[in-house]
Amino acid sequence: MTDANTILSIDGLTRRFGGLLAVSDVTATIKQGELVGLIGPNGAGKTTLFNLITGFTPPSSGTVRFAGRDVTGLKPWQIARMGMGRTFQNLRVFPNMTVFDNVSVGAVGSFGQSPWRALFNGGAQSRAVSARSWEALERVGLADVAGEIAANLSYGKRKYLEIARALATAPRLLILDEPAAGLNDTETAELADFIRRLHAEGVTVLLVEHDMGLVMNSCSRVIVLASGRKIADGTPEQVQRDPAVLEAYLGVEDDAA
Ligand SMILES: Nc1ncnc2c1ncn2[C@@H]1O[C@H](COP(=O)(O)OP(=O)(O)O)[C@@H](O)[C@H]1O
Ligand SMILES: [Mg+2]
Repeated sequence: MTDANTILSIDGLTRRFGGLLAVSDVTATIKQGELVGLIGPNGAGKTTLFNLITGFTPPSSGTVRFAGRDVTGLKPWQIARMGMGRTFQNLRVFPNMTVFDNVSVGAVGSFGQSPWRALFNGGAQSRAVSARSWEALERVGLADVAGEIAANLSYGKRKYLEIARALATAPRLLILDEPAAGLNDTETAELADFIRRLHAEGVTVLLVEHDMGLVMNSCSRVIVLASGRKIADGTPEQVQRDPAVLEAYLGVEDDAA
């Protein structure tokens, strides 16, 4: 069931790793302008689902439609070029490049070539790329350290750098994988404010999070995975009192990851 406002729809997405069903028959949609949380205990299949959506892992079965097109089986950079921006659970900042260059690599990717080719042909210098990169850095509050080597930034700031790199592609959908992992409570609260601000500015966001609090306080809709299956999809209030969700969360040990 899709309409013109649907930016992402996944249908029957399934991924097996040997005998393990990491993601099992998940169907869901995201509309333009939504801020949707995807939560679930460790091992629920969040990262795998995220990799299926972004093209990093091919599905065993099922389809991914993005911006009106079937993107199942496309390469990650092809999907990125169509307007899907992402960050990684484990940071993938280029440590020896400047903050600015880290971001412009992302912006170049959105102008129609593989980011790797862009990286090696020095094509990051066009005016449009430069303007978008500055805008993204300003948005995340890193414009004043644009000339720094990325390795010199704190862990928290490198997370914003990754978000800036995704934003520089002017994504139609921004997917964040556990952006609060490794942040302290203050930093997590700041990140929640930042994500809400992005959403208020019109960015469509899918927030993949282990941290229930961040999702419940920020998202208008929450999708819950457990053991690879979608067990709930509704407002934070609905999801929080759903017996299946309570059982999934109480039934596993809550580690800080
Ligand atoms: N590349 C892989 N090969 C084998 N098993 C995997 C692989 N990636 C994930 N898994 C398994 O799939 C399940 C879901 O993992 P994951 O998607 O990382 O969960 P989450 O992100 O919710 O913690 C886990 O049991 C995990 O061990
Ligand atoms: Mg994960």
